[in-house]
Amino acid sequence: MKHYRIIHLIWVMIAVCTFFVAHASAQDKYTADDAPGELSIGHNESPGIKNCLACHTEELEVDPGQCFKCHTEIAQRISSSRGYHRDKAEECAACHGEHQGKDSRLIELDTADFDHEETGFPLIESHKKIKDCRLCHRKDNTISRKMTQSYLLRDSGCTSCHQTPHPGHQEVCQSCHTQKNWHVDIWDRRGSR
Ligand code: HEC
Ligand code: HEC
Ligand code: HEC
Ligand code: HEC
Ligand code: HEC
Ligand code: HEC
Repeated sequence: MKHYRIIHLIWVMIAVCTFFVAHASAQDKYTADDAPGELSIGHNESPGIKNCLACHTEELEVDPGQCFKCHTEIAQRISSSRGYHRDKAEECAACHGEHQGKDSRLIELDTADFDHEETGFPLIESHKKIKDCRLCHRKDNTISRKMTQSYLLRDSGCTSCHQTPHPGHQEVCQSCHTQKNWHVDIWDRRGSR
């Protein structure tokens, strides 16, 4: 009985050592010298990110699955088919190139010429007339980010911006209201059914 226990213990120790050795060699496989350039500030500061395999496969290909590990807010939106990234589950590097140096920007967004329909929430009717993005993209309802201003809303339902004067069993505002005005025309509604 004792004999078996010792053999078992030895096997466990061998397995543990092999794991650590394999793990360490994967991490040490590449160094900064193998990279085409320095990473942007956001990816440079956090210590875990210096590890090449935080973003790359063993063959140094960009792995979106790795991006999602940190950027859960993007992963969540993709899996619920919401927001700008809902149809962009791959090719992250096509728009977010890296290794361009500390001061490089990871995001190119021309707010003056942005087609809001791309977010899955087209600005129609009265919303179309709003000139200042910040009336909707308020700081208190936006996830915080250090470099550029984020456009990810914590809550994007009608009630995140509008209070209802008749609370109760009327949660789905759109079943009675349009985005034109708050008037409810029952004849319009019957006609559209
Ligand atoms: C935060 C994510 C991230 C980390 C960490 C990272 N990279 Fe990259 N790397 C990228 C992205 C994104 C690209 C694609 C760049 C592009 O297409 O503009 C890339 C491209 C590359 C390329 C290919 C360049 C080319 O033109 O084909 C190499 C080689 C590379 N990285 C090496 C490294 C090494 C070595 C490390 C660690 C020292 C590292 N990377 C760490 C994101 C990262
Ligand atoms: C009437 C309110 C409203 C206005 C005005 C508005 N937005 Fe939005 N925007 C939203 C909502 C709501 C979403 C969230 C869609 C979702 O998550 O389903 C959104 C999403 C976005 C996203 C995508 C975030 C992501 O990654 O999913 C971007 C980018 C954006 N808006 C940019 C702008 C810009 C630029 C302007 C001004 C030109 C603007 N918005 C004006 C309500 C608005
Ligand atoms: C077609 C271009 C494009 C592709 C492909 C793309 N993105 Fe983006 N991404 C953008 C733009 C534009 C913004 C800024 C507007 C916004 O927040 O939606 C952005 C914003 C972001 C942000 C910051 C979100 C915030 O506002 O806080 C992250 C993180 C991100 N992208 C990750 C990814 C990942 C991961 C992938 C691949 C799975 C990816 N992106 C693919 C264009 C792209
Ligand atoms: C180990 C965690 C980690 C990984 C892996 C990672 N990121 Fe990031 N990323 C961050 C952090 C931290 C920031 C800075 C966030 C902030 O500004 O608050 C950031 C910022 C960003 C931004 C926003 C930059 C800006 O201008 O605000 C984009 C876009 C982005 N990452 C895309 C990617 C893509 C694409 C990948 C995969 C190739 C990736 N990230 C992998 C942690 C990570
Ligand atoms: C079952 C139908 C229904 C639902 C659902 C509903 N409403 Fe209404 N709402 C009404 C009616 C009817 C009026 C009165 C319209 C009129 O005077 O023409 C109204 C009026 C309003 C007004 C205008 C009040 C005023 O004083 O002029 C606002 C603002 C409003 N609703 C917001 C909301 C919001 C926000 C939601 C979602 C949380 C919502 N409603 C859900 C039926 C509904
Ligand atoms: C991210 C913020 C935001 C979201 C989400 C949002 N709205 Fe708005 N909405 C605004 C702002 C800002 C205005 C212009 C200022 C105002 O009238 O409150 C506006 C205006 C309106 C108006 C015109 C009000 C008037 O008296 O002229 C209606 C109707 C309306 N929204 C309905 C909706 C409905 C229905 C939804 C859900 C489908 C919705 N909104 C989602 C921000 C938002």
